[in-house]
Parts: sequence; structure tokens; C-alpha cells
Amino acid sequence: MDLDSLFTVDEFEAVAQRKLDPVYYDYIAGGSRDEVTVRANLDGFGRLSLLPRVLRGSAQRDLAVTLFGARSSMPILISPTAFHRLVCTEGELATARAAARADTIMIASMASTVAVGEVAAAARAAAPADHEPTLWFQLYLQPDLDDTTALIARATKAGCKALVVTVDSPVLGANERNHRNRFHDLPPGMACENLRNLRGDEPGNVRQIAMSPELSWDHIDWLREHTELPVLLKGVLHPEDARIAVDHGVSGLLLSNHGGRQLDTVPATIDLLPEFVEAVGGRVPLLLDGGVRRGTDVVKALALGAVAVGVGRPIVWGLAAGGEDGATRVLELLRDELDHTVALCGARGLADLTPDLVRPAAGSRR
Ligand SMILES: Cc1cc2nc3c(=O)[nH]c(=O)nc-3n(C[C@H](O)[C@H](O)[C@H](O)COP(=O)(O)O)c2cc1C
Repeated sequence: MDLDSLFTVDEFEAVAQRKLDPVYYDYIAGGSRDEVTVRANLDGFGRLSLLPRVLRGSAQRDLAVTLFGARSSMPILISPTAFHRLVCTEGELATARAAARADTIMIASMASTVAVGEVAAAARAAAPADHEPTLWFQLYLQPDLDDTTALIARATKAGCKALVVTVDSPVLGANERNHRNRFHDLPPGMACENLRNLRGDEPGNVRQIAMSPELSWDHIDWLREHTELPVLLKGVLHPEDARIAVDHGVSGLLLSNHGGRQLDTVPATIDLLPEFVEAVGGRVPLLLDGGVRRGTDVVKALALGAVAVGVGRPIVWGLAAGGEDGATRVLELLRDELDHTVALCGARGLADLTPDLVRPAAGSRR
């Protein structure tokens, strides 16, 4: 595949769809129930226009951000997605190398098919000599807190610099494409490697990830007492919960509806962002994911108050189309589009992206 002939995330998706087993394509592309929220995430960006300023730009635009002490060359992070070995043989090793090459932050999914220690080692080996790549770890709090402690220890030992706790999954979302396709288990030889050999298990045993509707804010307090790492919550959607999260001392929020894969018919994250900005009042950094496919989407999210965005499916499409190189090219395309959009907005850098650049508007993007 000549990756240089692909110019958009949507083109990567089309190639991925051609290459992948349709069962896996559906697992990745799909969302829960009627997929209203999957579409809303895309439409939300389409319904906003950009209103550029003129005669105040700059030849060089600095796109770098610093998050919890780690610098990323751009405000586009890799959101956590499960099971990368479904789409490319190297799995999360390829993703980690792509993130290191593009000099951005990868949030490694707890449900990865390569253990976090190996993912971190791959990132370090691929990064330029003078640069330490940044990995964060996405965590589903396990009702057995000893298991959670063991997972945190694995992530910390691997050198992860933050924990991103996903709180929108008291139970698993219902992707009806998976039911129709009878896709319920990973193929033989693949497993959630972070859950291998936990305490008390037979050697080689891999636990299932447990979802727990009983989790409460007390567990967030417990977590903060059991780690030195910054704790971000991913999947808070009600602005009141955003306030509560900040009161409980979380270090940041990743405004996310899980790419439309948990509760269906929740709003597009970009539509919720202004209310979140108000609720959080600048007390912690706000990140956003869901439906980011273009540089213009990134600019809209940053102008409305996010410090960075995450991309989920675009990275998986990149991996499916061309492994490490494919994921790297997706990140570079998004970086180029972001830089180009910043220039066209008459901005000198990210600090110039202010809410007045965004207006309600146009129509559907697709
Ligand atoms: C195939 C797939 C697997 C995912 N796995 C996880 C996961 O393990 N943990 C998690 O917190 N979010 C998971 N997500 C949600 C992403 O982190 C992210 O919120 C979402 O993909 C963003 O939307 P986008 O795909 O439109 O960029 C997954 C999403 C997809 C598409």
C-alpha cells in the first residue's frame, strides 16, 4: 500500500475497511445501539464554522503543548483503543512507535494485546535519542482493588506518566454489530496482556476485565491515595459530575463519550465542551475526544477551550492500512492539517485559538 497516496483520515478508513475482516471492521467502526452518538460526534464538528482573523499570523506556528510536565509536539493525542493486534501483527508496539516518531502522547488501553511494559519499551526504542516518549495508562478500576493496585504498579513500573480512568462503563455498551457477527472473544493467541498472571492465578492465566456498576467517588479518592501519578477521568459527561470530579482532586478530564460506544444518544462531546469549560472554570486541563477527523476539528475544540484532543478510530485505521507507518502517517496528516488551519485562521499558535473563531453554522461534514 502506498501510504503517501492517502490524504485524509477517511481515506485511511476506506483502505482499512477493504483490508480488514468485516467482523473486525464492524467492531471498530461501530457504536452502541442505533449509533446516534457515533454520528453526532462527526456532525457536531460539521455544524460549527470557523471565522478567521486576518493580517496577524506568523511564518512559524508552535503547536506544542505541555501536559502534566510532559511535552507533546502537538495537541493531538492517541486515545486508548483496545486490541490492536486485531488489525496489525505488531499491535500496540506499532502504535507506540508511531506515537514516539510523531512525538505525541499515547494513552495505552488497559485492554491492549501487548503488555504495557513492552509497549513502553517499544516507544523508548523508537524515540529520538534525546527524547523520552510519554505514555499514559488507561485504567478500568477493577472491583477487586488488589487487582487494580497490581495494574497501577505495572503501569508505573513501565514509566507511564498519568492514569486515565474510564468511568463511563459501569456495564459494557451494546454494539449490536458484534452480536450480529457473533464477535465475543479475541481469536486464539491474543489476550488482554495486562491482565495476565495476576495475584493468585494459575501461571499464564489471563483475567477478563471486570466492569463494575458499584464504583463510586470513594474509589477515585482511594485511587488518588494509591498513586503518585496524575489521575484524569475519561467519560464524565454531565457538567455537574465534572465539578464533582474537580472537587475530588482529579488532575484533568478527558471529555469523551467513548466514541459513541457506551450509552447511545448522549451528546457529541464538542457540543458539551462549552458547559464543561464553565463547570471546570480553568481548575484542571480539559481534553476531548470523539469524531476528530480533520485539523479544523482540532482547531474548533481548542478554540472552545480544550487543551488537546484525542483520536481513537483514526489511529486504528492507520494501523490497519499500514501498521506503524500507517499510524504515523495519520498523525502527520492531522498535524499538517492543524498547522494549515491555524495559519488560515490568522493565528500564530495555539494560544490565539479563542472562542470567537467558532460560530454555529454550515451543515453536515459528510
Ligand atoms: C475499537 C475501539 C476500542 C476502544 N477501546 C477503549 C478502551 O479500551 N478504553 C477506553 O477508555 N476507551 C476505548 N475506546 C474509546 C476511545 O478511547 C475514544 O474515546 C474514542 O474512540 C474517540 O472517538 P473517535 O474514535 O471518534 O476518535 C475505544 C474505541 C474504539 C473505536
